Amino acid sequence: MSHTTPLYASFRSIGAYIPKKILSNEDLETMVDTSDEWITKRTGIKERHIAAEDEYTSDMGAKAAAIAIERAGLSTDEIDLVLCATVTPDYFNMPSTACVISDKLGIKNVQAFDISAACSGFVYLLSLAKAFIESGMKKNVLIIGAEKFSSIVDYTDRSTCILFGDGAGAAVISATDKKEEAFIDVHASADGSYSDFLVTPAPGSRNPASQKVIDEGLQYVQMKGNETFKLAVKTLTKDVKEILEKNGIASEDIPHFVPHQANYRIIKAVGDALKMRQEQVVVTVHKYGNTSAASIPMAINDIWESGRLKKGELMLLDTFGGGLTWASALLPFAGESI
Ligand code: COA
Repeated sequence: MSHTTPLYASFRSIGAYIPKKILSNEDLETMVDTSDEWITKRTGIKERHIAAEDEYTSDMGAKAAAIAIERAGLSTDEIDLVLCATVTPDYFNMPSTACVISDKLGIKNVQAFDISAACSGFVYLLSLAKAFIESGMKKNVLIIGAEKFSSIVDYTDRSTCILFGDGAGAAVISATDKKEEAFIDVHASADGSYSDFLVTPAPGSRNPASQKVIDEGLQYVQMKGNETFKLAVKTLTKDVKEILEKNGIASEDIPHFVPHQANYRIIKAVGDALKMRQEQVVVTVHKYGNTSAASIPMAINDIWESGRLKKGELMLLDTFGGGLTWASALLPFAGESI
């Protein structure tokens, strides 16, 4: 590549890590007043994976990242930027989980930082990777979405504890001069006026760690579920239609629609609004629950490992989360098929 050739960002590889322990709907029936039938009907979730007590967000992120780097055919010293999206970092708030992951992978003297965009984190990272690469600043960007969401879930609150799971996904985004491998578009947005829809009140400068925090359970995620649900369907449908129209691509020409895996009813409503056929829509929420920033890369990894995602095929990603934040992306998979 000469310096006069335009630089494009390409999605070169995917990896994921799924913790061993399974928390099923039947397990939850013994913990809170709920039923497998209610959870299945309202969310589509059957089970989720939970990290071990001594397994942290960085451990899961590093494992997913090592797989992604290997599948990209790169060595760790070729990575020149490490970005991690998480709302369950190892530490609130330093060092960043990206720094801890870099250390675990043996990546030294490379810029590394976290972003906080909740469930939209991975697609937000795609927009950053694109900008860093197109500007010529970086060549191989490691992006990671990793969450130990169980660390901020109140397992006595039936309205939230049934939804979330743990896990990590990672991708390598590399510079290319091949236009056919390039990201087509990434759109990321936010509206902070809905910040009370999804919130973890502590710890933070507003509510530093204290006995009051513990007594009131302010360290746990709080959610206005029904309001979030309605806004998610409305916002995602509009956002995804816009990115398709803007780029002149019809929904029937997308082989892989990979939506954020929060609730099957949200996925179905958006898929139906786009007139997507069932085989176009990637669904993993039944087995992983909502893994926040890890949800989209874990879903991409699933279709790659099962041989469904082939080199050159187009993916449409969409996501929605706390902030509120939302994002969508249109891009081909530029890695090798399995
Ligand atoms: N088991 C049984 N009943 C439950 C329950 C559970 N786990 N959780 C809530 N309920 C009850 C409520 O108490 C309520 O009872 P009431 O009618 O007697 O008051 C009833 O079920 C309906 O509650 P509601 O919150 O209106 O249900 P819903 O259809 O909106 O489903 C969610 C709840 C959380 C599944 C749904 O709102 C959702 O998925 N929201 C979006 C979540 C999300 O995507 N968050 C992350 C964004 S990234």
